[in-house]
Amino acid sequence: MSGQWYEGRVALVTGAGSGIGRAVAVRLAAAGAWVVGCDLDAEALAATGKAIADAGHHVTTVVGDVSAQADVDRIVAQLPDGRVDVLANVAGVMDYFLPVTEVDDLTWERVMAVNVTGPMRLSRAVLPLMRAAGGGAIVNVASIGGLTGAVAGTAYVTSKHALVGMTRSIAALYAEDGIRANVVCPGGVETNIGRTATPKVPWAYQRLEKSFARTTRVAKPDEIATLVSWLGSDEAVNVNGAVVASDGGFTA
Ligand SMILES: NC(=O)c1ccc[n+]([C@@H]2O[C@H](COP(=O)([O-])OP(=O)(O)OC[C@H]3O[C@@H](n4cnc5c(N)ncnc54)[C@H](O)[C@@H]3O)[C@@H](O)[C@H]2O)c1
Repeated sequence: MSGQWYEGRVALVTGAGSGIGRAVAVRLAAAGAWVVGCDLDAEALAATGKAIADAGHHVTTVVGDVSAQADVDRIVAQLPDGRVDVLANVAGVMDYFLPVTEVDDLTWERVMAVNVTGPMRLSRAVLPLMRAAGGGAIVNVASIGGLTGAVAGTAYVTSKHALVGMTRSIAALYAEDGIRANVVCPGGVETNIGRTATPKVPWAYQRLEKSFARTTRVAKPDEIATLVSWLGSDEAVNVNGAVVASDGGFTA
């Protein structure tokens, strides 16, 4: 079914080296998209690029940091013929479950830079291209941390609530240009995000753990990618500004 959705389309996917971003890149390429994938991790990104190319699909990879304007400029310069139909902002980092009283400036600034400033910079870069082309779709990956305060530290929760707000703002402001923006809020997913998810403050983590008891299942990355793929496709033409949880019922 989704095999035809992206034929002739260009999809820019951030965080394409691992986890959900890799699953999105692979899925959109298999559905016909020319994927422009970016990631900070050159080796991981190359592996995604090889998997897509070996399957006979189109892919361009660009190593870069979504929070850095110069890197965003380089990433956007790689779009074939300056075209982009879908932007999937997937790259993100956790915050070691730090409560606000213990958060250090470096962690705060990095989490906000990657999870909020990055999607803003990419949206700012691609929206003029989408407007000129007469339409497009942005799909952001936030988290249930964008819906509730009880699943991560203060920086992560703040960043994901901000990303939900950014998505709604774009949806409201650019609908008349034929552009849709939606945001997916996953619950727990089996990925490599654990690198920034080691709890550093025991008392805070113990309080958060009480809410983790609500977890019904941990998702596979592709179970999130299916939703990103649908929201970015024409099948979702009437869906704009939606905040969609994919969490097995955690926030039910
Ligand atoms: N794994 C979960 O349980 C879960 C739950 C809810 C939301 N999310 C969100 O899903 C998204 C993807 O995370 P994941 O779980 O697949 O993690 P992951 O660590 O497996 O993948 C994230 C990728 O983003 C890349 N990245 C990090 N910072 C970057 C930057 N500044 N520029 C470019 N690339 C960068 C990393 O190198 C990595 O390859 C994140 O936004 C995360 O917050 C994850």
